[in-house]
Amino acid sequence: MNILVSGSGGREHALVQFLQKNDQIEIIYCAPGNGGTAGEAKCRNVPLSDPLDLADFAAKNNVGLAIAGSEELLVAGIADLFKEKGIAILGPGKKAAMLEGSKCFSKDFMQKYGIRTASYKNFTNFNEADSWLNKCPYPTVVKADGLAAGKGVLICQNREEAKEGLRKLMVDRQFGNAGSSIVIEEYLEGVEASILSFFDGKTILPLLSAKDHKKIGENESGPNTGGMGVVSPNPHVNPEIMKKFKEGILAPTLRGLIEEELTFTGIIFFGLMITDRGVYLLEYNLRMGDPETQAVLSLLDSDLLELIQASVKGTLDTITPRWKEGAACCVVLASGGYPASCTKGYEISGIDKAECSVYIAGARLENEKLLTSGGRVLNVVAIGSTMEEARRTAYSNVERISFKDKVYRRDIGGPVL
Ligand code: AMP
Ligand code: GLY
Repeated sequence: MNILVSGSGGREHALVQFLQKNDQIEIIYCAPGNGGTAGEAKCRNVPLSDPLDLADFAAKNNVGLAIAGSEELLVAGIADLFKEKGIAILGPGKKAAMLEGSKCFSKDFMQKYGIRTASYKNFTNFNEADSWLNKCPYPTVVKADGLAAGKGVLICQNREEAKEGLRKLMVDRQFGNAGSSIVIEEYLEGVEASILSFFDGKTILPLLSAKDHKKIGENESGPNTGGMGVVSPNPHVNPEIMKKFKEGILAPTLRGLIEEELTFTGIIFFGLMITDRGVYLLEYNLRMGDPETQAVLSLLDSDLLELIQASVKGTLDTITPRWKEGAACCVVLASGGYPASCTKGYEISGIDKAECSVYIAGARLENEKLLTSGGRVLNVVAIGSTMEEARRTAYSNVERISFKDKVYRRDIGGPVL
């Protein structure tokens, strides 16, 4: 069987590594891939990113299964194109992809099905949104409706900040049409948790919980990023929280998806906020998290392809994934300047000395050298019998890898190490 993985991050490098362990898989095409996937035995990078080109390529190259990595491709309807060609794909069609692609749509869905979420109002008119900012409590959260690579969410401490944010989104159109509608919602105080799950149209099967670290700086300071590191399981997700999540969020989500005819085969990634008042849903993502995937899959003791195939075939109710004991810690090494514009093109050394997994993200292979080419450059992922052990192993390996202007957080999963 040949597989197509779309994307070019650490998540895709990890997926390629985990999938290629399965003997049934002959070739994994990664589109466009990166300097890490380029070096994997069963992987071939293909320089494609347009959904139509990807579907054509898959049909011509005997691809039996595709994994859609990015939200942009899903919102563009890549899953529908693959299904038209009879190729199984992990990912929702265009309609269900709106649960990630439109925050107004997903908040209305959550409200309709009684899913616990921050109270909110949707706006398409600047003046109406602006006058709401005179009345709402602070801090408040202003969100662009559409996709903005995680940067369209503004936490505003006061009215002035909120008005400035609103102007950026709705008038200056900093994120283009993503800001033609916006959500203004209640600010929730708590700890975040990511729960990735597989969905087959009838069953949602959650994986181990994870804790992302979204801010660039230690102690959650500075601007938001795509994610600077993850630990799994999330130390805050105990059985009681898991029960609340399943009852208050997972079960009504499933009911809503079925009633609204939004079912699909793929991933539902629940972004949660655990507060003193209970567990709230911040957002749905309909693809795997990056870097959540790298940490969670490191603890998976079952075959990944089996899980994916159960989702595609609709047999998730027969599957109980096995997990390794212990914990995983993933530390992201980024380029200087990230998440703003960053310095790139530097040689990376020391990966061969690492004694744990290293997944490449923003780095390209040139004349057999790995050169930094993006914001998040690579992920160092260690597992251990305890979280402390996983953290210590990850950080001792971080020291072995170098490139100019390397930036990382020393507090992934606990106090600064
Ligand atoms: P979202 O894309 O909606 O998940 O938002 C991105 C990030 O913004 C989340 O991971 C949180 O860190 C933060 N955030 C979003 N909504 C809220 C909220 N209502 N209260 C507090 N923080 C939030
Ligand atoms: N790490 C957060 C995300 O993938 O959206």
